[in-house]
Amino acid sequence: MGSSSAGLQESSCAPRADFVHFGPAKTPAKLNPKEMKLRLLTLTLISALVAMPVLRAQDNKEDTTELGDKMDKISGAFRKLGKQISDSSKNEDSLAQVAIIKDAATAASQMEPAKKKDLPPDAQAKFVADFQAKMKDFIATVDKLAAALKANDNTTAANILKDMKTMEDDDHKDFRKKKQKKST
Ligand code: HEM
Repeated sequence: MGSSSAGLQESSCAPRADFVHFGPAKTPAKLNPKEMKLRLLTLTLISALVAMPVLRAQDNKEDTTELGDKMDKISGAFRKLGKQISDSSKNEDSLAQVAIIKDAATAASQMEPAKKKDLPPDAQAKFVADFQAKMKDFIATVDKLAAALKANDNTTAANILKDMKTMEDDDHKDFRKKKQKKST
């Protein structure tokens, strides 16, 4: 056994050649041009990735119209109805969803579809009148749905909901602009 202070004595071993020293991070001034380029490229890539969702959200916002906002309201309530239309214990909430659809559809019937501007001037008035007439039919169907729910007739209510889906599909074909492919 050596002396008890042996562990504290300075080592007489030569420093190891393969020992890695982690010095402080290089400041930009100490970076060579290649490292600088790499850092810039990484930074640009990160910034682009962060900015992408923001730009996409702005892009979508430009596409929305006042009529589109009303349609989104109809869509949310319609989807909820689809899940619960056969469940009579949910009729109170179903009637609340129907009221949302009626309000939004009534407001929508006062608006004009964006597609109007793509039509020749002499076809525009008829296009808007047809849209309003179809929206009126739709609202009348919404009233029938409310009556069926109030009577707790969920079978009839479910059938009316199917009719509304058919109206949606047909009327979108006639009055909604065709989706444009996004240019990237
Ligand atoms: C259950 C019924 C319906 C649902 C769930 C529905 C849903 C929608 C949705 C989600 C949009 C896209 C909204 C956006 O751009 O953010 C839309 C657009 C549109 N819908 Fe409907 N819709 C329904 C019925 C109707 C009816 C009955 C008509 C016409 C009589 C109609 C005419 C339109 C038009 C014209 C657009 C394009 C908006 C614009 O031109 O500004 N929809 N609809």
